[in-house]
Amino acid sequence: MNDRTREYKAYIEDYLKNWYARFHEEPQSKLFEAMEYSLLAGGKRLRPVFAFEFCRMCGTDWKNAAPYAAAIEMIHTYSLIHDDLPSMDNDDFRRGRATNHKVFGEAMAILAGDALLTDAFCVASTGGNVDAISVLAECAGSLGMVGGQVLDIMSEERVLSEQEVIDIQSRKTGALINAACVCGVIAGGGTEEQIAAAARFAGALGMAFQIRDDMLDVIGTQEEMGKGVGTDADKNTFVRLYGLAKCEELVNKYTAVAIEALSEFSDTQYMIALAKSLTDRTV
Ligand code: IPE
Ligand code: IPE
Ligand code: MG
Ligand code: MG
Ligand code: MG
Repeated sequence: MNDRTREYKAYIEDYLKNWYARFHEEPQSKLFEAMEYSLLAGGKRLRPVFAFEFCRMCGTDWKNAAPYAAAIEMIHTYSLIHDDLPSMDNDDFRRGRATNHKVFGEAMAILAGDALLTDAFCVASTGGNVDAISVLAECAGSLGMVGGQVLDIMSEERVLSEQEVIDIQSRKTGALINAACVCGVIAGGGTEEQIAAAARFAGALGMAFQIRDDMLDVIGTQEEMGKGVGTDADKNTFVRLYGLAKCEELVNKYTAVAIEALSEFSDTQYMIALAKSLTDRTV
């Protein structure tokens, strides 16, 4: 792992850990245990890394993006806890451990997700930028990630068109990646053109990311991924739609489109290398 990635990841790990450390004496300590079980279980922290790097590429201190980066990682973690529930994807393994509901029970897993989502806005509000908070809310809610999850579960019984699969992806996965990139630019004081470019980057990168996620459900290993594989076999994945070879081609194509959008920024070598490194990720 590159030094900059290491620095960003260490910073967000500490930030999230410290946010909750002071609440351990609360009577509902079981809730904090359940939240931290998933939140501090590792994870690639890709969305915070995007937020920090877009902020930095605007020429300001990347730490300005920390409240939004942390909030997005909390929302992402809640989305994973709920995604794994028996009533959703019914998965047993996540971030290298048993899923939240397997350890704490369904009721606590639902509540841990609820709390992470709500607390995320407390954290984001410490950043003080209403535009960023608004982007976060829109990307997480009915028009964004939750909307995508609804389309995803509603479509389980039938075969979808290409456009329908893209509509799901752009919401369930693309929206939070969009929030990370756009909030990074807002925190960095970027221009309207840079906000639009960050959204273009996120749109294409999000596609590449979900296509690769679907590929890894087929060709990945539970050991490396930290989550079960083969669990989406009956779903409307990109692999079902295109097959593995075409998926590989499309991951490269969308990544190239994402990289083009970076021309609105300077000092983009790190982001280009990061985007390229995700095309053949095994994690
Ligand atoms: C998994 O996201 C869910 C998708 C949106 C495909 P990540 O692959 O970023 O999961 P973590 O955060 O590294 O666990
Ligand atoms: C998950 O998509 C997207 C969200 C959690 C919002 P998947 O259901 O494919 O994610 P994994 O494969 O379980 O991580
Ligand atoms: Mg799912
Ligand atoms: Mg899932
Ligand atoms: Mg998946």
